[in-house]
Amino acid sequence: MNIGIIYYSNTGNTLSVSETLKKALEASGNQVSLERIEVSPDNPQAESVRLVKAPAIAGYDLLVFASPVHGFQPSKAMSTFLNQMTDLSGRKVICFVTHFFPFAWMSGKPSINKMKSLCESKGAEVILTGIIDWKNRKRNQEIKQLTDAVLGLI
Ligand SMILES: Cc1cc2nc3c(=O)[nH]c(=O)nc-3n(C[C@H](O)[C@H](O)[C@H](O)COP(=O)(O)O)c2cc1C
Repeated sequence: MNIGIIYYSNTGNTLSVSETLKKALEASGNQVSLERIEVSPDNPQAESVRLVKAPAIAGYDLLVFASPVHGFQPSKAMSTFLNQMTDLSGRKVICFVTHFFPFAWMSGKPSINKMKSLCESKGAEVILTGIIDWKNRKRNQEIKQLTDAVLGLI
């Protein structure tokens, strides 16, 4: 399968999970591209951001969108990217977020719900969502669960 992981990461957490996922998917015979959304200003506290590089989504059998949580929402970079997308009809999508708090309800859940509905509003079929609670002592287990869940779907 040809899989595109489109991510935004400011301090590297979301990138590291994306890289783990990429390795696992490649190890099971998939072709995986990892593409960063580039914005200006590249500052999570900016009121609004402008897309400098919006990764192309054409040609992938499966899209993974990955973002940190900023202020109880998906990053501005990710929501700006998803908002400018014209059409995701017929596209299978997986979304995940990383956030600081140890429990998903503390900000991961509302953020992933927002990301999921943004994708669905563009016509995507969201087949899986994931939340990595960075300060949870079982973080590595959460990352493995997400990776296994993705592998189980393809
Ligand atoms: C401006 C800003 C706002 C944040 N807001 C939240 C938040 O509302 N809830 C939360 O759990 N973590 C919050 N975080 C922490 C990040 O979501 C968390 O560290 C994430 O894993 C960072 O991902 P990255 O390293 O890929 O950028 C915030 C971080 C920044 C810089």
